Amino acid sequence: MSEAGQQPKSESDVEFPAAIEALRTRRSGHNFDPDTDLDTETLEAVVRDAAFAPSSYNLQPWEFVAISDDERLEELVDIAYGQEHILDAGTAILVGGHTDPKTADRVFEEWVEADRFDAETGEQVKEQTVAGYESERAGRDYAMRNASLAVQNLLLSAHARGLTATPMSGFDYEAAAEFVDMPEDTVPVVLVAIGPSGGEEPERLPRRDVDEVLHEETF
Ligand SMILES: Cc1cc2nc3c(=O)[nH]c(=O)nc-3n(C[C@H](O)[C@H](O)[C@H](O)COP(=O)(O)O)c2cc1C
Repeated sequence: MSEAGQQPKSESDVEFPAAIEALRTRRSGHNFDPDTDLDTETLEAVVRDAAFAPSSYNLQPWEFVAISDDERLEELVDIAYGQEHILDAGTAILVGGHTDPKTADRVFEEWVEADRFDAETGEQVKEQTVAGYESERAGRDYAMRNASLAVQNLLLSAHARGLTATPMSGFDYEAAAEFVDMPEDTVPVVLVAIGPSGGEEPERLPRRDVDEVLHEETF
């Protein structure tokens, strides 16, 4: 929606063109440079960018497990039903989401400390938020929604840094959780193969048209 009194902005009139270009050119690549791996500084940078994602009440209910040991990556290929590009990538990040609002105490304290809520409101909103996690289904929904937004940030950050990053759900979730000793209150959301690009990728498949996916007011 445009600001009051302004015409809607045109397709080319954007404040951050590089951001639009990045999200339009990002690819889930399979062509990694097998001879170079991600360094620690870059790994930390993409995870830091991932954590700038929005989350429900800023709970930040996500975790990132980076696997780069060659033998462990080979095991991970088996867990991911033979997806060999994990090995070429050199690093895989298993992104997990909390099914339990375990950051709530700390985060709602921060809302109150920053004077965004008074103490009583902070406590009430925290209780409502915690109650929202009660059913198993609700907990998983929260985990998936919030951590998926962090995954997209991570993919865009990798792309902006000239890396290739591919999100994957083609893996055995239980085996992956066990493989990284994931705690009971966290579920695997997406596995990301990430590393320096090995060059061109096949042409992008078409996207459904805006006319097809955009519904105004109702379906
Ligand atoms: C939830 C999800 C699961 C995916 N699982 C896999 C996967 O297991 N292996 C893989 O190579 N790519 C996987 N992809 C990548 C998709 O194939 C890819 O995003 C899609 O074909 C569009 O291509 P693009 O990302 O290059 O635009 C997955 C993507 C998403 C969002």
